[in-house]
Amino acid sequence: MEQNNRIWWKEAVVYQIYPRSFKDSNGDGIGDLCGIISCLDYIKSLGVDVIWLNPIYASPNDDNGYDISDYRAIMKEFGTMEDFDLLLREVHARNLKLILDLVVNHTSDEHPWFQEARKSRKNPYYTYYHWWPVEQETPPLRPSYFEESAWTYDPHTRAWYLHYFSRKQPDLNWENREVREAVYDMMRFWFDKGIDGFRMDSIPLIAKDPAFPPIDRKKYPDLFSSYAHGPHLHEYLHEMNREVLSKYDIMTVGEGSAVTYKEVEKFVGPERQELDMLYGFGPSEVRNYTTADCPDSGIGYSLIALKKMFSGWDKAVGKGWPAIYLGNHDQPRMLSRFGDDRPQFRVYAAKMLATFLLTMRGTPYWLAGDEIGMCNPKFDRIGDYRDIATLNQYKQIEKRKGDTQWFLQMQQQTSRDNARTPFQWDNSGQAGFTTGMPWIGVNPDYRKINVAAQEKDPWSVLNYFRQLIALRKSSPDLVYAGYTLLDAKNPRTYTYLRKGEKYHYLVVLNFSSKQAEAYPGIDMQGAEILMCNYGDLPQLDKVVSLRPYEAVVMRSEEFGG
Ligand code: GLC
Ligand code: CA
Repeated sequence: MEQNNRIWWKEAVVYQIYPRSFKDSNGDGIGDLCGIISCLDYIKSLGVDVIWLNPIYASPNDDNGYDISDYRAIMKEFGTMEDFDLLLREVHARNLKLILDLVVNHTSDEHPWFQEARKSRKNPYYTYYHWWPVEQETPPLRPSYFEESAWTYDPHTRAWYLHYFSRKQPDLNWENREVREAVYDMMRFWFDKGIDGFRMDSIPLIAKDPAFPPIDRKKYPDLFSSYAHGPHLHEYLHEMNREVLSKYDIMTVGEGSAVTYKEVEKFVGPERQELDMLYGFGPSEVRNYTTADCPDSGIGYSLIALKKMFSGWDKAVGKGWPAIYLGNHDQPRMLSRFGDDRPQFRVYAAKMLATFLLTMRGTPYWLAGDEIGMCNPKFDRIGDYRDIATLNQYKQIEKRKGDTQWFLQMQQQTSRDNARTPFQWDNSGQAGFTTGMPWIGVNPDYRKINVAAQEKDPWSVLNYFRQLIALRKSSPDLVYAGYTLLDAKNPRTYTYLRKGEKYHYLVVLNFSSKQAEAYPGIDMQGAEILMCNYGDLPQLDKVVSLRPYEAVVMRSEEFGG
């Protein structure tokens, strides 16, 4: 049984910080490393174990640090290498761990490698990137995530260069052994400093066929999913593991862009020696407004699809280990999307989603701010947005005289900036995030929703989150036990059993704003109720009658069948 084989990162809760938006220490409106240091006691108090920082490296910030111009330097807005070293020491002094973002599908066009590369086709760095020389006529169709085409013409080299993201993010050529060596060297630099792992950005996209053959549209109707199927992908990941990862006691989690269930185990199967975990794009694929399976549920998406997705992922990892999340810096706030941010439901829904993430099998990834129930800000002007994805799409729609108003309405639900507004510390101006002008607007709901207020309230989302972490920590069964979905077809509730060695846990969740009934199909006589987000005890019988967004965690030595 897995418990004989306990591993720290399986038991960890990962707390994701978007450094730009967490805490500003010097009043320039941009969060920074010293700001994070000043909040470490708060982070520790949550009970989380690992801090993941979105990129903190030198960058011209075309894509908020995902365009790196120097992998071994700190972005000047965020501080200095001394600040980083201090942060790492302070993190470790609190018995926490720190993981960084590894962004090696591409660099910035301002990285010295690319600056050299574009000097001439003969430059030794030219082969660090992917090019399509003008002699070969128009480059093959490759769409970009942020622009129309993933090819941009460079007049100097008389060639197009490839960028799956923005034109300021040219893709590295992993076919070139020198590129791989340079990346591994850089990884060692950070591991030797003592970091505890990497979250690997867009990692399935690194391998490419340099001949760029036409994409098989039958196999990949959206074109993009073909990007995760480069010819030598798994050889590279295995090589990286052998040469670097295996030498350190660290954790890795890949961003599983465009990876299907069938392929997950290739990344995370322990015997394959590639990555520890991969997180899928499931949550973003469970589209809003697919209420077809229960139009009157009060749920703006298909819960049935959500359950199927999580259960599918749990299986797909095989002997590997799942990563669990409902939101991150690329997706809207989980409460607005999968819960309910209306005032009468907000607190219950936030606690219910927390109950879900912390009682599932897998390592939970938690975006800072979700522990107080932060919501989408509902920006209504394009000028409020900062994200290149939103800004570029808006420009394209304007250009073709499309409906920009409709687009803005959709962005209130989908834009990545929804999750990037400043962290809400207290009810002073700018939510205690900065004494200056924040780089992106603070959600005006900060006067109600902030850490200071919730610290004082024993029933707050924040304190409930802490209790859940304590519960998870108290029982290895809750971490390692298998997961069985009990109500695949119920459109409003999500019920699952975690059958551990000593205890069995039954989790019953109402994802809807209406009363709902769950039928776990097992005998709950004598079960002990460990958590309920309503404070008082729910009605238990063969059926569990649940109030809106009610969450109940039960434990028993064995549930009868
Ligand atoms: C990943 C990151 C995202 C970034 C993109 C390009 O998807 O999470 O924020 O824009 O890669 O690096
Ligand atoms: Ca600052």
